[in-house]
Amino acid sequence: MNLLLYGAPGSGKGTQANMLRGHFGIPHIATGDMLRAEIQAETPLGREAQPILAAGQYVSDEIMIAMIRNRVRQPDCGRGFIIDGFPRTIPQAVALDTLMAELSRHFDRVLYLQVPVDELLRRLSGRLVCPLCQRTYPPGTAACEADGKTLVQREDDKVEAVRPRIEIYLSKTIPVLDHYRGEGLVSEIDGMGTIDDISRQVLAAVTAPTGKRQSA
Ligand code: AP5
Ligand code: MG
Repeated sequence: MNLLLYGAPGSGKGTQANMLRGHFGIPHIATGDMLRAEIQAETPLGREAQPILAAGQYVSDEIMIAMIRNRVRQPDCGRGFIIDGFPRTIPQAVALDTLMAELSRHFDRVLYLQVPVDELLRRLSGRLVCPLCQRTYPPGTAACEADGKTLVQREDDKVEAVRPRIEIYLSKTIPVLDHYRGEGLVSEIDGMGTIDDISRQVLAAVTAPTGKRQSA
């Protein structure tokens, strides 16, 4: 099972990917989490990426494509994966097509979580994350349920970075959906409702037949 999760900042990609990981037992590949791990480890890539993320802008296609090429080839991806946060630009989508063809694999479904902008702003302003495992939680949660760490606010959830994140998503990432719509792979999911409601819709969409032509 190979899945792509799509949606604006704060639409619930990480939340639903976590559910899908538990349900299907396949890894959750989140490019934002990978970049934040590099920043935390103070690697050269992390030092380059830190001001870009803090400003709500996109890291270069070259870096992101190399990162995903390396990650998808790891042994834990053998039974499939859930990608969250990639591709965000047309060149990234083209590179991912090439990579999937090289691996003789295809996407089973692109899950597009739709949430209005005022709700995105509300969710991002209150979101808490675990600094260790990066799981996300709603406001009021004290500690991570997986490892007990005290939760923190993400640097790019500060008000000055949130608007640019939504703007770049609308200008550069929304057009990428058309790339997959042409293949009949996109399931549009109303992302408003409880997390459990959305999870039910996501699972129903994953198991529904697609309009895609049969391929490898
Ligand atoms: P990334 O980490 O991917 O951030 P994002 O796309 O902005 O998305 P978020 O993680 O903010 O939101 P989410 O949809 O995962 O929502 P969540 O489940 O947490 O990327 C960060 C940065 O890295 C980018 O800005 C860019 O700089 C860089 N980057 C990454 N990939 C890149 C690429 N391919 N190319 C270039 N640059 C790249 O939920 C949000 C909150 O809402 C939580 O508190 C959650 O508990 C709550 N919530 C979830 N569902 C519901 C619900 N149904 N009802 C109420 N609350 C809910
Ligand atoms: Mg996320």
